[in-house]
Amino acid sequence: MFARRIAVIGTGYVGLTTGACLASLGHHVVCADIDPDKIDRLNDGQIDILEPGLPELVAENVAAGRLEFVLGARQAIVRPEEPAVEVVFLCVPTPMGEGGAADLAAVQAVANEVRHLLPKGCVVVNKSTVPVGTAEATRKMLGRRDVSVVSNPEFLREGSAVHDFLHPDRIVVGSDAQDAAERVAALYSKLGAPTQLTDAASAEMVKYAANCFLAMKLSYVNALADLCERLGADVIEVTEGMGYDRRIGQTFLSPGPGWGGSCFPKDTHALLQIAAAAGMDFELVGASLRTNETTRERVVDKVRTAVGGSLAGQRIGLLGLTFKAGTDDLRDSPSLAVAQLLRAEGAELVGYDPACPHDVPGVTDGITVVDDALDAAKDAAALVVLTEWPQFRTLDWTALGGVVGAPVVIDTRNLLDPDVLRRAGFAWIGLGRS
Ligand code: UDX
Repeated sequence: MFARRIAVIGTGYVGLTTGACLASLGHHVVCADIDPDKIDRLNDGQIDILEPGLPELVAENVAAGRLEFVLGARQAIVRPEEPAVEVVFLCVPTPMGEGGAADLAAVQAVANEVRHLLPKGCVVVNKSTVPVGTAEATRKMLGRRDVSVVSNPEFLREGSAVHDFLHPDRIVVGSDAQDAAERVAALYSKLGAPTQLTDAASAEMVKYAANCFLAMKLSYVNALADLCERLGADVIEVTEGMGYDRRIGQTFLSPGPGWGGSCFPKDTHALLQIAAAAGMDFELVGASLRTNETTRERVVDKVRTAVGGSLAGQRIGLLGLTFKAGTDDLRDSPSLAVAQLLRAEGAELVGYDPACPHDVPGVTDGITVVDDALDAAKDAAALVVLTEWPQFRTLDWTALGGVVGAPVVIDTRNLLDPDVLRRAGFAWIGLGRS
């Protein structure tokens, strides 16, 4: 494999992981961002996001001279002392815009900025999740016949992004220029992963197709949990039985308070919008989103029932605020969505999360965030486990039982051992099981 000269534009979640991991594969990577403070922090070795292995990987590759952080795309691309940049990754945010469609303003801004800077023969790679047709649109924005555009979607999960990058299930590279696609695929050759070379539109579609399928799988499991409860079946037994079928698989079958995070909500809305614009009502995706709402409401029903029929004035202790365990990300967290519903019914909320020890204005409003589970439990009419942090299993439940107002736990992740809880004097209420 030849080491390549790579620029990564955007040092958010995807950009930083991509930059550090590509450097660890031997490439020379320069990462750019428009935020000067962030670049200063990165140059100081400070990583803003909680991602196992990332700080070490960044430090190692900076020390080896393969990874740099600079302010602005120009500095990453125009480097007269060095060989010309060969591949430029666009890793800028594509948030949910008007009507659920992805907002491409950041992609457009970077394309405008770099179009005259790119050397002849360079490949621009879109890593951001973008609507089908964006590679083509980017090609037009760049207006350069001598520069190719490739779509190379990422499938990284927060909390295991470095692992996922270095051990991918597949690499998908789409372009209408075969040689450019092959050059991008070669960047990853050391990983030995199955590699699919396809057209740009199909590669762009793969990302939505995969994420929306996974969201649909979870909505199905969450609805199944509801039905199991009504029928006296146990969803854990049911999903285990389903999972032995290799066409279904054992993973991504855990019911919870609904799915969230920075990708699934955004991508399901975007796919609905993409389909609508193409004249199609993608009913399955719409139903998955509606089921996700119902799932949250059902959690609230359970809490209301557990505290005797009304939430007004009841103190509820929340365990877990992030959208899943292993991350400090609160974006589109189902835990916070459930919290808002509880609050709307007049509950008084105290929340504890191992990765979020303080209030975050505009995000955790209405929740008193404490830095200890005991404080969240104090005088609570019920405790609700919302995020599957493994450390909740080994909390001192007897001590928690000593401070709660009423010893009731609603475990929306089926995380805790019911016997341990019962021994500590708690009534344990799971999801989809009795
Ligand atoms: C997801 C995709 O998995 C990843 O491939 C894509 O690149 C980005 O979006 P991420 O958002 O990090 O990754 O989270 P993921 O681990 O997939 O979980 C998404 C949501 O589903 C979380 O709210 C999580 O708690 C929930 N979930 C996941 C369940 O409720 N049950 C499960 O069995 C798995």
